[in-house]
Amino acid sequence: MTHPPPAAPPQASRAARENESRASGTQENSTPLAQESSSRLVQESSLQLVQESSPQLVQGKTDPLGAEHARLGDAPLRDAPLIKVEGLRKSYRTARGELTLFENLDLEVAAGEMVAIVGQSGTGKSTLLHILGALDAPTAGTVYFASIDAAPVKVASLSPREAAAFRNREIGYVWQFHYLLPEFTAEENVAMPLMARGMRQSEAREIASNWLREVDLEDRGAHRPGELSGGEQQRVALARALVCSPRLLLADEPTGDLDGTTAGRVFELIERLHASHGLTSILVTHNMELAERCTRILRLAGGRLTALTDAAQPAT
Ligand SMILES: Nc1ncnc2c1ncn2[C@@H]1O[C@H](COP(=O)(O)OP(=O)(O)OP(=O)(O)O)[C@@H](O)[C@H]1O
Ligand SMILES: [Mg+2]
Repeated sequence: MTHPPPAAPPQASRAARENESRASGTQENSTPLAQESSSRLVQESSLQLVQESSPQLVQGKTDPLGAEHARLGDAPLRDAPLIKVEGLRKSYRTARGELTLFENLDLEVAAGEMVAIVGQSGTGKSTLLHILGALDAPTAGTVYFASIDAAPVKVASLSPREAAAFRNREIGYVWQFHYLLPEFTAEENVAMPLMARGMRQSEAREIASNWLREVDLEDRGAHRPGELSGGEQQRVALARALVCSPRLLLADEPTGDLDGTTAGRVFELIERLHASHGLTSILVTHNMELAERCTRILRLAGGRLTALTDAAQPAT
């Protein structure tokens, strides 16, 4: 398997900023939470992000993930915790009173795990994913993310700029809808997060092209999203999610919009990339057949996360 070259250090150039700002301005205006989040991602790629890097991100003097979370270089220490969630609560004030999705929620995900989260519609799966990925803030509780060489990052304590840099560096997101920018080619869409870091366009395109090869779309780089099938669009979205070499992949119903066969192929690709890039992955899905291929299944119901030992239970 060909691995793309490592991303260049973040040095946002003015030209890249302007390019990216233009790009983010083309994001479709559409639906609720997921769209808002994805739109935010594209916009933030608009680049203020990057230069503020690790020192400010590292917060907290204790090490709740334990000493073994530390890693050498880029080699992930399998089975050491990457994420630890303590006492998480999320509630909304609504016209009809307070709506609490979950409280006292704890979760630990080890590096290298591929965890499926299932549960009925409206239980808060997407909200939980957004909190883990620094796209939304919890009402209370803490999310720790293991740092490579320092104390864990307290995700919810990051400033908006720090959170943007954290997301660009550590997290790859995939949603049910691909959210590719329609005016740009597949290769340009994949290159965008790198340009958001300030990488030169030529270099970013070369890495993007390598990634398109990884998702078996090397011959579709010049296609715009509208010229790709649903499965191909989602594979491009996967390449874009992973182009910055994140440690964590968060996928919210990544195959929910695809027919059974295509869904299976995209899921296989996720499994392959998860293994070959040493990722930790958390996937929300309504498809129990796919969930059962993960290393662990958690069900979110009634504000609690429960391990599904009997995988034969339906997801909803
Ligand atoms: N900003 C908000 N204000 C009030 N309620 C909200 C807000 N955002 C989400 N909710 C509510 O929180 C609940 C959980 O939403 P979420 O999108 O996380 O559910 P989900 O489990 O992902 O559902 P689905 O399987 O349908 O995607 C929903 O009932 C939703 O209406
Ligand atoms: Mg959802």
